[in-house]
Amino acid sequence: MQPDIASHRARRVHLLETLGEGVLILATAPEVIRNRDAHYPYRFDSHFYYLTAFPEPEAVVVLIAGRKPKQILFCREKNEEREIWDGFRHGPKAAKVAFGFDAAYPIGDIDKRLPKLLENQPRVAYAFGADPAWDARVMGWINTVRGKVRSGVSAPANLSDAHALIDAMRLIKDRHEIDLMQRAADLSAEAHRSVLRLCKPGMGEWEIEAELQRCWRAGGCQAPAYTPIVAGGANACVLHYVGNDQPLKDGDLLLIDAAGEYHGYAADITRTFPVNGRFSAAQKDVYEIVLAAQLAAIDAVRPGNTFNTPHEAALSVLTQGLVDLKLLQGEVDGLIEAEAYKPWYMHKTGHWLGLDVHDAGDYKIKGTWRELQPGMALTVEPGLYIRPSDDVPEALWNIGIRIEDDVVVTEAGNQVLSAAAPKTVAEIEAAMK
Ligand code: GLY
Ligand code: MN
Ligand code: MN
Repeated sequence: MQPDIASHRARRVHLLETLGEGVLILATAPEVIRNRDAHYPYRFDSHFYYLTAFPEPEAVVVLIAGRKPKQILFCREKNEEREIWDGFRHGPKAAKVAFGFDAAYPIGDIDKRLPKLLENQPRVAYAFGADPAWDARVMGWINTVRGKVRSGVSAPANLSDAHALIDAMRLIKDRHEIDLMQRAADLSAEAHRSVLRLCKPGMGEWEIEAELQRCWRAGGCQAPAYTPIVAGGANACVLHYVGNDQPLKDGDLLLIDAAGEYHGYAADITRTFPVNGRFSAAQKDVYEIVLAAQLAAIDAVRPGNTFNTPHEAALSVLTQGLVDLKLLQGEVDGLIEAEAYKPWYMHKTGHWLGLDVHDAGDYKIKGTWRELQPGMALTVEPGLYIRPSDDVPEALWNIGIRIEDDVVVTEAGNQVLSAAAPKTVAEIEAAMK
């Protein structure tokens, strides 16, 4: 599967219509040094890629709205010497055709061309505040135009946030995006299946991480969607544990929050299972509570409900579960009101998912939770994290469980993209036999 250039162009056309008038300027991400002269693997900017599908660094998209709309790409020139060292560059001429632009110019010409393009334009949309260097550059172009007002040109008087305009579009995924997300989820679910078969006491968290990375990379993912969490035993109660350097012990649980990125689109999957392949009674008790909370929350993902409805559904199952485990006493509604669950469930039940693992888009509009609509994609990821404590039975100590799936809102309800990763106690124990 490849990026669909027509879909990306259609997004630019839609954005131009939303913009109505003025000029939108958006740069991709810079290359970043890891140490001395070695770079991190390059990752484009998500907003820029959403509009362009153009994967190279040092590129800027300029969209001119109005009666004669124009889509322009600035990118690196062809360069035989650099291409021998660093690899292929499209160059403006080929990029214009391959990515469906009306015009393309060398990135080195941008300071010369941009002020001209901003003359007599009423407004500029760009990602202000995202990068001080770009803030200064765009202001420099605007000031160049201001310097010419006595010759009769006018300078843009209004600024708008390009990210906010694009965020609203990115919240609703089109068919092509959902296909890419399905592929990311399939390859990531296969990685989770593979480590279920592989895991045994005495292995290291790092070996499990290596197998996960092997699976999704071999399947065609370009990168992990985020730093994998491979957390055995007590490490599962550290929410952002990424050390992945401890041995896996017989009798412990293993929490894995890990997934790949496919053509920019993230999966985000968590599964928790016993290192030795059999849940203890206490582990099973807690697991069944988290699973019931997750199923209730997934069931709440449908049009008409809000972003927060799945969280509310999960909270009521988790809180009842904490009462059943005798960690809490009292009546569930009051306990939820008092946030009595917080020592064991301290995060929300999900987030938007897409080009970014925590994807673009507001969660509330004027203080009210956003209504779910077909095409929105979100994770559903309740958990319970029970750290050792005098008032907690020892059998429950260091049980950290999260179950996370990727869900798209459909007309009829929802579609779980990550359903291929085993999830029930019976499925997990069977897969580990
Ligand atoms: N893996 C990041 C998250 O679950 O939000
Ligand atoms: Mn998540
Ligand atoms: Mn996750």
